[in-house]
Amino acid sequence: MEHPYEDRYKRVYAAGARFWETPIPTEELVNFLDEWKPIRGKVVEFGCGEGRDSIFLARSGYDVTGIDIAPSAIDRAREWAREEDVEIDFRVGDVTALSGIPDNHFDLGVNIGCLQMFPDPGDRIRHLNEARRVLKPDALYFFLNMGGGTKEEAVERFGPDWTPPMVGELRPRKIMVEGGEKEIMLPIIAGHGFQREELEREFSASGFTIADIQRKKTRPHGTCWQVIAVHS
Ligand SMILES: C[S@@+](CC[C@H](N)C(=O)[O-])C[C@H]1O[C@@H](n2cnc3c(N)ncnc32)[C@H](O)[C@@H]1O
Repeated sequence: MEHPYEDRYKRVYAAGARFWETPIPTEELVNFLDEWKPIRGKVVEFGCGEGRDSIFLARSGYDVTGIDIAPSAIDRAREWAREEDVEIDFRVGDVTALSGIPDNHFDLGVNIGCLQMFPDPGDRIRHLNEARRVLKPDALYFFLNMGGGTKEEAVERFGPDWTPPMVGELRPRKIMVEGGEKEIMLPIIAGHGFQREELEREFSASGFTIADIQRKKTRPHGTCWQVIAVHS
């Protein structure tokens, strides 16, 4: 069966958008590279979508692998990387079962908005175990995913008519097309807003040590938790 995110990307492109997400690199990732200066080695981006942050990482000197379950987004990412003249290994794959990737392979892991799509804690643990397997000992894992927000935060982001969404329900969303903004109806995809204790528990159960955790108001994904974890 087609993943709901593949359906979303197809609908957005069919409506005339070049990108679903913003093409501007994630500010928190840019700051992380500046402040933590992780070694310029092999990086894996889990749930890279259309490749915005993978392309930024490649431009910053990393050897990048970007993995996403949605083939349409990976097609778009490959096309964009060609235009930017950067070499990135973009792959269609499931971040809960990383077949074909050896153990202890990457120096850095990045996850921006992917784990928030996993409401089932079992899937989250499967991903974190796989992430730990493919990261080298002492590698860092940069994580920025939705925090369980308040109604006020949702209203601030989506407007005063906001009501709690139901999976599959059609909601209006704005996309960017040539000539400006356009509103289309998109089905709600199941997601998960994290609580701090849950992150601490799940990272620790998968063998990571949290080096830093902060709540952030981000541009693409709203109120998020930023976690910098170490493969320990
Ligand atoms: C909210 S989007 C974020 C995309 C990108 N990181 C960004 O910030 O623009 C979530 C992404 O996770 C991907 N995804 C969801 N479940 C996945 C899975 N099991 N394996 C790989 N990618 C997955 C979706 O296809 C989607 O591209």
